[in-house]
Amino acid sequence: MYRFFNFLWRVKRFLNIGSESVLRNSLRVIDEFVYKLISIKIEQAQRLQDGTNGDILSRFIELKETDPKYLRDILLCFVIAGKDTSAVVLSWFLYMLCKNPHVQEKIAQEISEITKVKNGSSIDELAATITEENLEKMHYLHAALSETLRLYPALPVDGKVCFSDDTWPDGFSVKKGDIVGFSPYVMGRMKYLWGEDAEKFRPERWLDQNGVFQKESPFKFTAFQAGPRICLGKEFAYRQMKMVSAVLLGSHSFKLAEQNESVKYRTMITLQIDGGLRLYAFQREK
Ligand code: HEM
Repeated sequence: MYRFFNFLWRVKRFLNIGSESVLRNSLRVIDEFVYKLISIKIEQAQRLQDGTNGDILSRFIELKETDPKYLRDILLCFVIAGKDTSAVVLSWFLYMLCKNPHVQEKIAQEISEITKVKNGSSIDELAATITEENLEKMHYLHAALSETLRLYPALPVDGKVCFSDDTWPDGFSVKKGDIVGFSPYVMGRMKYLWGEDAEKFRPERWLDQNGVFQKESPFKFTAFQAGPRICLGKEFAYRQMKMVSAVLLGSHSFKLAEQNESVKYRTMITLQIDGGLRLYAFQREK
């Protein structure tokens, strides 16, 4: 990310100083960790030969893919694409729920109705009820997560390189090799797209009159991108975020440590909260 802002980065890389030296050392740590993991898994696969490991790395090895560099890139792609993105969305989600306590209560009520577990039950009791079927029924939770992603997309800016010369529907021309940037953050707040209350956190905008979640076109709701390179983990991310939210919000309520504090952005590839989000968690009463 810093390479976008500092045009001297090539010099720094050559001299191995500053942020480029930090980057090189960090990459070494990551490589050592990942390559070790890959060799353990390859060795395990050869020993077991029954394909019982269900993780993504083992799946690739089962397909006879053993080039360590290729496997490293696959693994890092999934970790980098999947971990921080889901984590930052959950932080912004809890922030929004603290700023909008009525939404937090509505979600807790939905969880209790669908899981048939009373609010305030233990995390283990709740976790036992989190089935695929129950998650599918949590329309309001799904809407509140989507509303968070609209206002705080994990990747606030994104870019593409033009594959060939082209003219867009509005008549604007681009040349092969041009870089085109777009901002899901800005698009998520456009009144032109979302109406006069675009800046407001309102999960209801995603629901029809029966409370059923309504999908938006990915070309309008661009948090996961659109087209052939849309996020591969979109459904997985929703499922994972819904599982964590259902367990946490069914058992606890949350308040900001500093009720009137507004959080600040940290400039990164992912939209992070500067300094993290400080919360109090209260066990819900049964
Ligand atoms: C809320 C969570 C997530 C958000 C907001 C998100 C968003 C995105 C976006 C915007 C892209 C397109 C980047 C680009 O090429 O311009 C992307 C790609 C991708 N995402 Fe996600 N993602 C999330 C979670 C995940 C998870 C959990 C996984 C894996 C389990 C994942 C796997 C991928 C992969 C593999 C790609 C590359 C797809 C390709 O280029 O064909 N993502 N994601």
